[in-house]
Amino acid sequence: MQVVRGKKIDTLYDAGQIARRNAELAAEIMKGPSDDLLVIAVLKGSFIFAADLIRAMHAAGAAPEVEFITLSSYGAGTVSQGVRIIKDIDSDVAGRDVLLIDDILESGRTLSFARQLMRDRGAKNVSIAVLLDKREKRNTDLEADYVGFECPDYFVVGYGMDAAYAFRELPYVGIVTGDAD
Ligand code: IMP
Ligand code: MG
Repeated sequence: MQVVRGKKIDTLYDAGQIARRNAELAAEIMKGPSDDLLVIAVLKGSFIFAADLIRAMHAAGAAPEVEFITLSSYGAGTVSQGVRIIKDIDSDVAGRDVLLIDDILESGRTLSFARQLMRDRGAKNVSIAVLLDKREKRNTDLEADYVGFECPDYFVVGYGMDAAYAFRELPYVGIVTGDAD
């Protein structure tokens, strides 16, 4: 347990576990379609995972192009469930093997939207890597091709992920368990 900004945080996956899993994921990704690979990090939450995973991919022999897209959900918790592009990629995806990287796969709305967007733009193949799979909350049929870890149905923070803009800097994935005394 660690206290950060007055909150108690329990470690769910520590830095060593994540680093070892990233190396395994990179090796798996190298067995998939990796011709002229375009990696697209779905910001903001994936920024640390993506940074570590692409370096693990480099160590496994890959030389991907790296892009960034910022997506935002609106109407969360309501019936109007949309996803919005805040900042788009610059590259052309037509005919390319695309790997989307995100922090958490929850309902699947964000990644369904991103995958469809890339398919509509003519990507040859779109695969998905996520650090965490929170499958209890899924309400689409989307499955990731590469999953770091299963995630219990708690709100998690750290390793790029925030709660109200805090905790992205933590080197581990943690669960906020309450206020410090
Ligand atoms: P989905 O569209 O419901 O699959 O939501 C996935 C997105 O919600 C992730 O990319 C995260 O940005 C965010 N998210 C879901 N659960 C958590 C969490 O426990 N902590 C931080 N962000 C989360
Ligand atoms: Mg996200």
